[in-house]
Amino acid sequence: MPTQQNPIWWKEMSVYQIWPRSFADGDNDGIGDLHGVLEKLDYIKALGVDAIWFSPLYPSPNADYGYDCADYKNIHPEYGDLELFKRVLDGAHARGMKVILDLVINHTSDHHEWFIKSKEGPQSEYHDYYYWRKGKKPGGKKPPNNWLSVFEGGAWEYDKNLDEYYLHVFAKGQPDLNIANPKVREEVKSILRFWLDMGVDGFREDVITYIAKREGLPNGFPLMPVGRGMEHWTSLPPVKEYLKEFKEVLDEYGAFTVGEAPMMTPKLAKEYITEEAGNLLDLMFHFQVMEADCFLIDWVGLPFSLKKLKKAFSVWQNEMYGAGWNANYIENHDHPRIINRYGSLKYRVASGKMLAAMYILQSGTPFIYQGQEIGMTNIALDRLDQFKDVMTFNNFKLFKKLGFSEERFVRLANRRSRENARTPIQWTAEKNGGFSETEPWFPVNPNYPEINVAAAEADPDSLLHWYRALLAFRKENPVVIHGKYTEHYKSSRSLYVYSQELDGKRLLVVCAFGEKPVQFSAPTGFDLTGAKQAFGNYAIPGIQTNNFVTKPWECRVYLWD
Ligand code: NOJ
Ligand code: MG
Repeated sequence: MPTQQNPIWWKEMSVYQIWPRSFADGDNDGIGDLHGVLEKLDYIKALGVDAIWFSPLYPSPNADYGYDCADYKNIHPEYGDLELFKRVLDGAHARGMKVILDLVINHTSDHHEWFIKSKEGPQSEYHDYYYWRKGKKPGGKKPPNNWLSVFEGGAWEYDKNLDEYYLHVFAKGQPDLNIANPKVREEVKSILRFWLDMGVDGFREDVITYIAKREGLPNGFPLMPVGRGMEHWTSLPPVKEYLKEFKEVLDEYGAFTVGEAPMMTPKLAKEYITEEAGNLLDLMFHFQVMEADCFLIDWVGLPFSLKKLKKAFSVWQNEMYGAGWNANYIENHDHPRIINRYGSLKYRVASGKMLAAMYILQSGTPFIYQGQEIGMTNIALDRLDQFKDVMTFNNFKLFKKLGFSEERFVRLANRRSRENARTPIQWTAEKNGGFSETEPWFPVNPNYPEINVAAAEADPDSLLHWYRALLAFRKENPVVIHGKYTEHYKSSRSLYVYSQELDGKRLLVVCAFGEKPVQFSAPTGFDLTGAKQAFGNYAIPGIQTNNFVTKPWECRVYLWD
């Protein structure tokens, strides 16, 4: 019989992610900030989460909105200052919530002091903080290798003064740090200590599996149109050595870590997040659950495949059981809104509820992205110049080569760009969705009069209340957090059904994808007539039966305890 695994705070917790620029604007300059966060701490607490993860708050020229960090030990003046951050930190702690910061060490901003000094040339001690290399031909005529960045053309940018190139796997304004240099690793440790000494509880580590580059920087697989060379910068063995070093510092503070890891598989994850591996990271954000309607990246769209989604969840549940721990999420700042992708706009609330239950009731630590809890949706912009993100513009260049007009590209971006997740949070039905009295830095979704926090608070059937109930239920029932997962109805193209079992208690989660009615019969060994239906996104029947026909996007959760 499956029994409870060791409870640890970060296994029990659920996390709310804030992308600060669009969360709440406390000083009315059109940009989200820490004043806004301070005002909303009670709202976040009321959701029932135990931690807040902040996307970068660092000073940044915003080439990638904070993921280009210009000073690791400070706060962006647009968001506040260290003193205000400390108030937010204390305020979160006073409410029993932990605070997790984004640690972006694969690269800095090109405005970072280290990078500016590195440009002085090889005599500068900062030169070797980055990947400066001679080209294959002098005068900037041929870069050191054929790598392409993920965000902005070639991965090498030429500096005329030095007659050298620097490496940037992401945007030009994000030069890659040379973590192989022990001095850089000392800097990282000093950054960790700075925030941990202040009281921060852990880190979400940005593209952490990219921090080692193959020695000699060899050419990459030539056919890759973006990110060419990634086989030489993804999950190389030294990553683990570096993480081991950082962990020594983190362990002094009992700090938590979750690493972002593109292309991650469960097998590889076990080399990082298991006890055997030395728990180099506590959790890992993999991308497989986000690939049910695309090929590797959101922009290469495919029809939604429930089978792919179920397989991704099930493989990770099964592989991590008793070995590692799952980080469960369906939204963050890098993906379009989930209701548009895996749910239905027509059944926004029903499908949003179903998707929430689907992932929150699995074993693991759930992450909820700002706005997800009220069912925010993608925005439809009219023109390219309304977009803001370097990735969108880079993709425009690529799609133009494939014959896309600007108009057609804008339609694609409205479905596929991560900017859909970055519209200001809709707090009320008032001007600018109550986000700010000033014109916000990015358009507010015009559906704010209908979809907003105030409306969700007032409606007992809202997604917001559903999320609260799910998170409370998860806390009260260890079978959710620590249960042994089994998938049922595996070959169904419209139902996702799984059970969890722990210490004789059982849970069955039935999720109907789509509007079409489907005949459901309880899996063998599950007697629904003897269960309590804990959740239903339609009226819960007084008498339970073992067979029923599903309603559009229906979700039912049964508990035997
Ligand atoms: C992953 C982050 O989540 C994303 O927003 C960012 O653009 C890249 N890493 C580069 O830092
Ligand atoms: Mg502001």
